[in-house]
Amino acid sequence: MRRFLCSVLLLPLLAVPSASQDKKKREPDPLMAAKLKESQTLLEGLTLNDFAKVRKGAEELLRISKQAQFRKALNTPGYELYANNFQRAAETVIEKAGAKNIDGATLACVDMTITCVRCHQHTREEGLGKLAPTLGAGDGTGR
Ligand code: HEC
Repeated sequence: MRRFLCSVLLLPLLAVPSASQDKKKREPDPLMAAKLKESQTLLEGLTLNDFAKVRKGAEELLRISKQAQFRKALNTPGYELYANNFQRAAETVIEKAGAKNIDGATLACVDMTITCVRCHQHTREEGLGKLAPTLGAGDGTGR
């Protein structure tokens, strides 16, 4: 049951980038697109009970997040907080995958996914980063 929660949570998240790309054509940031790809690897691993895949996806996400944080996509205390929460959740996924604990890894993945959505909401609220200009005023934070 829990493993399906993650896919349910990922769906609205995936809708954000595609919706924004429809409104304004621009090249997606490769680092950000990689987040999406590795989230899928992670989800695939969870649903197949493949711990090596879970671990690989989470390790890549951790690496990407650290790179993005270093680059300071957004320079706000909120961004730092979400980035840290995200990294802690990714580390928990890795730890639980190492312990072959599928429920623990799934829960940590849900935690991580919530942080994806929260940080994107924060990004829109701040009106900063490249996410903001592509979204109309009406569909910013309320979803
Ligand atoms: C700590 C904050 C934060 C977290 C956590 C986060 N993101 Fe992002 N994300 C951003 C910011 C800021 C941007 C816009 C950056 C830019 O355009 O340079 C972005 C952009 C993106 C984009 C590109 C959108 C576009 O239209 O170009 C995708 C896709 C994306 N994120 C997916 C994810 C996924 C999937 C997760 C979770 C696994 C995630 N993000 C977690 C901050 C975050």
